[in-house]
Amino acid sequence: MKLFDVYPLYDVTPVKAKGIEVWDDKGEKYLDFYGGHAVISIGHTHPHYVKRIKEQLDNMAFYSNSVQNPLQKELAKKLGEMSGCEDYDLFMCNSGAEANENALKMASFHTGKSKVIAFTNSFHGRTSAAVAATDNPSINAPINKQQEVTFLPLNDKEAFEKAITSDDYCAVILEAIQGVGGLDEPTTEFFQYIAEKCKENNVVLIADEVQSGYGRSGKFFAFQHHGIKPDIISIAKGMGNGFPVGGILIHDSFKPSYGLLGTTFGGNHLACAACLAVLEVLEDENLMDNAAKVGLYFRKKAAEIPQIKNVKGKGLMIGLEFDFEIADLRKKMILEQHMFTGSAKNKKLLRFLPALNITKEDIDLFFEALKKTL
Ligand SMILES: Cc1ncc(COP(=O)(O)O)c(C=O)c1O
Repeated sequence: MKLFDVYPLYDVTPVKAKGIEVWDDKGEKYLDFYGGHAVISIGHTHPHYVKRIKEQLDNMAFYSNSVQNPLQKELAKKLGEMSGCEDYDLFMCNSGAEANENALKMASFHTGKSKVIAFTNSFHGRTSAAVAATDNPSINAPINKQQEVTFLPLNDKEAFEKAITSDDYCAVILEAIQGVGGLDEPTTEFFQYIAEKCKENNVVLIADEVQSGYGRSGKFFAFQHHGIKPDIISIAKGMGNGFPVGGILIHDSFKPSYGLLGTTFGGNHLACAACLAVLEVLEDENLMDNAAKVGLYFRKKAAEIPQIKNVKGKGLMIGLEFDFEIADLRKKMILEQHMFTGSAKNKKLLRFLPALNITKEDIDLFFEALKKTL
């Protein structure tokens, strides 16, 4: 059997990693400023993470959601405390798309409605309702196009007001910092406005924090830069530092009932051990503060490079906008400088999504290599 060929691959085969260092099958070293697409939050093979998972594996990797799992409760408690979201409940699943799928489903159950508002350049995953709320017709199959989603421009209050008052929506879903789309953000004024309008119109506000969450923006969640409270928050990526896990935080004004949501693998023992290890390291190593501080240092360094026209994002969720398409630059950064970075729907944007414990020295290395390549 061969692989279903859906990924254009760089000719690099990583086999070992530590912190932000990655080695390929020939022993060549690379620096990971991409974090495997914002997934590696506390660094590759962090010793505490490895220990926690190994210990859990020796005890028990999995049992279904039909029995007590104290690890899920421990995780919910710690996540509530660290994020400041203690008035939310946790439901665990396995990926970002599944998190958004469950968030949209909850919004529909809660309001009895089905239409969704999403925004231009959004990305929410590749499953049924999540992909329908993703602004990319080429990854929406006819079966997905049955969902009724209205795409609106970000930060256009007039368009938003017109839409939300003229139709029956169950949810508004948005990324507090757009990832795949290219690091655009709602303004505080717009975010506060849509939060207010959602309340007035009985519409559930979903913050997709799959990529911007877990300290990456310098606050636990990126929406916390704007002083609003969503009804549902979706999480994944950095939450497990590479262990496949996702979840939603549902405001406790939503009432659960048995069987409303469910999954076989979601919240299993191994996933909880990985997630607890991530939170423990985030706390012990003060990584949110580091993301904020080192992110500012990155911006200072970026300002010294004339080819960079704009620096987008917050903390360590950063996009460098050039006045040319960056595909070739990114390829050279990987193959010649041995540094991983990311791309976006905006073809002029190079994305920087490293582990949250990188240092100023790591950033100096990145800019030396970038200058050389430019
Ligand atoms: C903001 C956002 N939401 C959802 C997803 C989907 O997550 P997953 O690939 O884990 O399904 C992504 C993935 O890139 C994302 O960036």
